[in-house]
Amino acid sequence: MKQLQEKIMQEGKVLSDQVLKVDSFLNHQIDPPLMKAVGEEFAERFKEDGITKILSIESSGIAPAMMTGLVLGVPAIFARKRKSLTMSDHLFTADVHSFTKNETNEISVSKDFLKKGDKILVIDDFLANGQAVLGLLDIVEQAEAELVGVGIVIEKGFQPGGTMIREKGIRVESLAILESLEDGKVEFREEGTS
Ligand code: G4P
Ligand code: NA
Ligand code: NA
Repeated sequence: MKQLQEKIMQEGKVLSDQVLKVDSFLNHQIDPPLMKAVGEEFAERFKEDGITKILSIESSGIAPAMMTGLVLGVPAIFARKRKSLTMSDHLFTADVHSFTKNETNEISVSKDFLKKGDKILVIDDFLANGQAVLGLLDIVEQAEAELVGVGIVIEKGFQPGGTMIREKGIRVESLAILESLEDGKVEFREEGTS
């Protein structure tokens, strides 16, 4: 997605060979017109698939998930990383291990909002090691819902998550794929080579 790549070039900060900071438009401040375009792009790619719900994870998955849900005309759910006071045992839960942070967190989704027969599009901001996506897939399975595909705003192509999820036969659509962040430079993978 050209508009997204341009934004990354203009405002992304390469913190290391491994980490791209995009908190001016995705992870802290949010750029609504860009997120609207992101939602339109995901909706275009999945418009024939009969999606009934978007499933994402707080916090940075919410903006792209909501915009995609708006365009497709379906609700957007976000898995919670902490149990809320009003949530009880009526939950689907999964453990998500972060290699980056070296911690495991339980994520949860209320059984009220994910049902057998739902056709789910999973959306997240970054795909790195793929552990967050795996946790969401686990929850989709528990609900006996159908996973249609995964939409990612920025995939780090040099980390294993994308390959691992695609090797399960799952459709992954990433709007920008980082080939490398070496030498402080952002290199994108060409479209169609993922
Ligand atoms: P994984 O789910 O793909 O295995 O991701 P990992 O544990 O490696 O990442 C942990 C957190 O760091 C996630 O956010 C993920 O989106 C984010 N992250 C990973 N690599 C990058 C990167 O290069 N740049 C940025 N900006 N973020 C990255 P989170 O803790 O769930 O936070 P949030 O959703 O509240 O923002
Ligand atoms: Na995220
Ligand atoms: Na994040």
